[in-house]
Amino acid sequence: MKRPHRVALVLCSACVLPCSAALALEPVEQLGKSIFFDKQLSLKKNQSCASCHTPRAGWTGPTAGVNKKGSVYPGSVRQESGNRKPPSAAYATQAPILHYVVEDGDALFIGGNFWDGRATGEKLGNPAADQAQGPFLNPVEQALPDPACVVYRVCEPAGGTPYPVGLDAVYPGSCAIDWPANADRTCGAGRMLSLADSDRAKVDAAYDSIALAIAAYEASPEVNAFSSKYDAYVAGEAALTLLEQRGLALFDEALCSACHLLDPQENGEPALLTDYTFDNLGVPKNPQNPVYDSDPDFVDLGLGAFLATRPDYAAFADANMGKQKVPTLRNVDQRPGRGFTKAYMHNGYFKTLEGVVHFYNTRDIKPRCEDFGITDATESQALANGCWPAPEVAANVNADELGNLGLSAADEAAIVAFMKTLSDGYVQKPRQGRRGR
Ligand code: HEC
Ligand code: HEC
Repeated sequence: MKRPHRVALVLCSACVLPCSAALALEPVEQLGKSIFFDKQLSLKKNQSCASCHTPRAGWTGPTAGVNKKGSVYPGSVRQESGNRKPPSAAYATQAPILHYVVEDGDALFIGGNFWDGRATGEKLGNPAADQAQGPFLNPVEQALPDPACVVYRVCEPAGGTPYPVGLDAVYPGSCAIDWPANADRTCGAGRMLSLADSDRAKVDAAYDSIALAIAAYEASPEVNAFSSKYDAYVAGEAALTLLEQRGLALFDEALCSACHLLDPQENGEPALLTDYTFDNLGVPKNPQNPVYDSDPDFVDLGLGAFLATRPDYAAFADANMGKQKVPTLRNVDQRPGRGFTKAYMHNGYFKTLEGVVHFYNTRDIKPRCEDFGITDATESQALANGCWPAPEVAANVNADELGNLGLSAADEAAIVAFMKTLSDGYVQKPRQGRRGR
């Protein structure tokens, strides 16, 4: 759906409310929003999508204590957790269906959702919608036993408080299902619902509609707000400081923008700060990832591991081992408070933007931490000792565009300052002599 973002920016500077409050959602987007924030849609009724994708944390993990360490969020069943850091749920909807183009004789994969692209978009025509069908049923996330349980809880909200816009209102007939007695309790006990075949078919259709509604919300201007200081600057409505301007120039010169694109999209909408391709940056493993408690030899092979599961793509698997999706850098510094720690990269190894930029700049010139006898160094240990640990996956590390950028400390700081202009919800301070309303 096309939206006049420039108009949204004008609205913003004209009122004191954040952009999101000024824009009404379409009915399907409102439905998706209710679902996105509904904790009832998990086994123990304690977890929603927003529990791992909070707007105030840039649509990623809201708990500083988790981000500081393993960066992996527990599921509805608290003892269970996955092994990756939640990426931003914003700006995920523009990802194309996973596909490849041939560049210099190599297959270059583009699109999909998840760090490894495995929510391809082939099922519902939209990677974000394919993605949205995963978490409700994933035992390490919302952990419901049956899509029918999700549909039941959306159709029959607990306490009888209906969503402002119900599933039936947007997709008529979705809830006309003959539910068994005690459906809610059966779901809470982790058991499938027994349904007539015709009702099963309706559940499948309703589950697709739920995913499409979530994707519609994720594509709405409330989530993909394009309301950062950088957007205002591009629209000629705000000025960057000298440091931010220098950071912007360096962001291009140091090739950051080769992957985190600054060009407007083909449809004229603002830059996404990603090209939805995949790369292995040689990020070290995060020694605090709880996955190592149960699987000490765990290695995150990213896109390559997914391609290996697909007969049509398996031939490309080896060349893509260790590659993770280029994340958008929009909202990379969005946080609920100054002291709040965020985690960066697929495994949350980095806790600071300064550390990330220093890694891009010096990965290939500093000695290995292991050479000093420091195994499993965290980011702060690596920075304190002037070393970097070995990459999590040694194959296919990109040495063409990063690793030794020759940036000064001041250059690094400027790039960080620029990345801080990418947080949505920028509201210009009223100029002197002009009263804010
Ligand atoms: C327990 C935490 C947790 C919950 C709950 C959760 N997510 Fe996620 N989300 C993650 C993690 C971790 C990933 C990355 C997983 C991977 O790449 O394998 C992810 C990935 C995503 C992505 C992909 C973004 C991209 O750019 O590829 C989207 C979109 C998303 N989640 C939306 C949702 C929605 C919608 C829900 C609710 C239906 C949800 N998430 C529930 C943790 C969570
Ligand atoms: C060759 C492509 C490429 C280039 C060039 C590149 N990046 Fe990245 N960037 C990625 C990929 C891929 C990831 C995720 C890697 C992972 O998780 O293992 C990433 C992750 C990040 C993250 C973490 C975001 C998050 O939400 O976790 C930041 C910050 C970042 N890049 C900033 C930069 C800066 C600054 C530069 C320039 C100095 C740069 N990138 C250059 C591909 C690139």
